[in-house]
Amino acid sequence: MDLGQLSSIAEAMVADSRGLLAADESTGTIKKRFDGINVESTEDARRDYREMLFRAAGLGEFISGAILYDETIRQSAADGTPLVRLLESQNILPGIKVDAGAKPLAGSDGETVTEGLDGLTDRVAEYVELGAKFAKWRAVIAIGESIPSAAAIHVNAHALARYAMICQEGGLVPIVEPEVLMDGDHTIEDCAEVTEETLNAVYSELFAQGVMLEGTILKPNMVISGKDCPEQAGADDVASLTVAVLKRTVPSAVPGIMFLSGGQSEIQATEHLNAMNANHSPLPWKLSYSYGRALQEGALEAWGGNTANNEAAQARLLERARLNSAACSASYMGEAA
Ligand code: 13P
Repeated sequence: MDLGQLSSIAEAMVADSRGLLAADESTGTIKKRFDGINVESTEDARRDYREMLFRAAGLGEFISGAILYDETIRQSAADGTPLVRLLESQNILPGIKVDAGAKPLAGSDGETVTEGLDGLTDRVAEYVELGAKFAKWRAVIAIGESIPSAAAIHVNAHALARYAMICQEGGLVPIVEPEVLMDGDHTIEDCAEVTEETLNAVYSELFAQGVMLEGTILKPNMVISGKDCPEQAGADDVASLTVAVLKRTVPSAVPGIMFLSGGQSEIQATEHLNAMNANHSPLPWKLSYSYGRALQEGALEAWGGNTANNEAAQARLLERARLNSAACSASYMGEAA
């Protein structure tokens, strides 16, 4: 493992107010997104959609890396250019989702553990050959009446650390993603408590297993009110509680924290990130974005499965990316700016 190289990649991922485009929807998830716009999810349709995203002219000004799914990292554009080369030509680093999804956790009622460690060393080696520079593994923690259990937090943190170590040994920067879901009617304080407990467990396991924090990126949820909570916290509260929890749990050796959007609207995700950078700097780590839905929602709708709409869809993606990049430097002035 070359720590210098890993930390250079991790630092590049969060440099210059750039963020990540999470385009690593599994075949099942992208089908759900396509169902929403009445487009059949064929291999060609998935390729056409992602090719459209990656060809958005100037995307590399705001996007430092794109997270891909196994199918996508092997795909070529309609003209035969590998999609990975399209990204590289825009100065965007290719990354890869390597987990096999959140599966029911034995012994628990409704909780999950993320699988995918078997054979991971070999898959990492192959992804490095295909051009990947970083990887992602998402663990999922739900909040409910008597959950999360200590066991669910522990097994997910343990697996995240095993994944991170395997990636570093194979030459990929691991994005460590423990997502506390926003589903439910819990308060923002509940979310803060569970997020703090989860991040504590994750950093304790990363330490125990010898992961070099300088060569990692954290991709957490923001601390927000549950989707169905009658009282919805505003951006300033989201920013201060999120930053407080991160300060308590994330060592300053971590170069960057790149949030997931997790079901927030496009505008909320931008506002929240901007409020953190505006109200709480200087911070020990860069705060940036790694959004899926909050970067793609408008673009997907504008595209609608028709290549004739590519330019309109690319304009939507570029606008969202530009605004989120502005939020990285606390210069987001609202939608019309
Ligand atoms: P969202 O921003 O849509 O939550 O997706 C990010 C991601 O990569 C989830 O794992």
